[in-house]
Amino acid sequence: MTIHRRTVLAAAALAALATVGASLPAFAAKPLVIGFSQVGAESEWRTANTVSIKEAAKKDGVTLKFADAQQKQENQVKAIRSFIAQKVDVIAFSPVVESGWDTVLREAKAAKIPVVLTDRAVNVSDTSLYVTFIGSDFVEEGRRAGKWLLERAAKTPDATLNIVELQGTVGSAPAIDRKKGFEEVIGTNSKLRVIRSQTGDFTRAKGKEVMEAFLKAEGKKINVLYAHNDDMAIGAIQAIEEAGLKPGTDIVVISIDGVKGAFEAMIAGKLNVTVECSPLLGPQLMQIARDVVAGKPVPKRITTVEGVFPAEVAAKEFPNRKY
Ligand code: AHR
Repeated sequence: MTIHRRTVLAAAALAALATVGASLPAFAAKPLVIGFSQVGAESEWRTANTVSIKEAAKKDGVTLKFADAQQKQENQVKAIRSFIAQKVDVIAFSPVVESGWDTVLREAKAAKIPVVLTDRAVNVSDTSLYVTFIGSDFVEEGRRAGKWLLERAAKTPDATLNIVELQGTVGSAPAIDRKKGFEEVIGTNSKLRVIRSQTGDFTRAKGKEVMEAFLKAEGKKINVLYAHNDDMAIGAIQAIEEAGLKPGTDIVVISIDGVKGAFEAMIAGKLNVTVECSPLLGPQLMQIARDVVAGKPVPKRITTVEGVFPAEVAAKEFPNRKY
């Protein structure tokens, strides 16, 4: 076969692929490889986040190397090191806690592998260690929860409201920021007092266990529960019911995420409001990873747009919920 004849055949094969809409063969376009280290599977939110990332990668023809850290920072560090050794194109991760990332991120930088943060922030001295951070504004979520409570408290201006708080994982960005935003807002009303605050590690089981302890210690003095996520609120609701009280009535329940389980609890009258935190970050992550590899400039911070859903709108909104 002459060189000319081979070239003509190859061109014809490519044209045929283009006509049927097939992607270019391996020798023409190497698929993008992303190494993703996930926090774990601690909540309904996290499951939806994992599904979003896996589905988006599949849809975009991205090779995703996915590692579940089971809520342990050392597992995330190991996964990142393994992605560096495998020379992936982009490393993405949702850091379980904020601090302790400098060394491993310097290793990624030295290997010239860009790092994208999703969902949670890191606290590093050199912000050039990551290219961008895609996720919610957790301080604002805490403020939104606080504002909802301020408005409710305005209806009974003389009443003192005792609040118990279920915090997220100790040292994690959402736990730190949601506490801060909430305190900032409720601090403007001296009738609102946080009487107990403890971590429930973002899980239903721990949320229930800690709420049981709060109820044992404070009993009927508790007027409001502020949970840093829906799963802990759902666990706590069970504890409230087992204590013979009515969640949503005897104790006002406020939480964050907006998962389907929270909407079901609102429809059942057991949860009063959920502040949205979207886990559907997959499509954005794929786009950003492509842009970074193509050398396009990307914003340092990409903030997710979110709302607040009080119980009054739950039934109407439920059919629209995607997670
Ligand atoms: O980082 C986001 C938080 O992590 C979600 O609010 C919580 O449900 C999850 O586990």
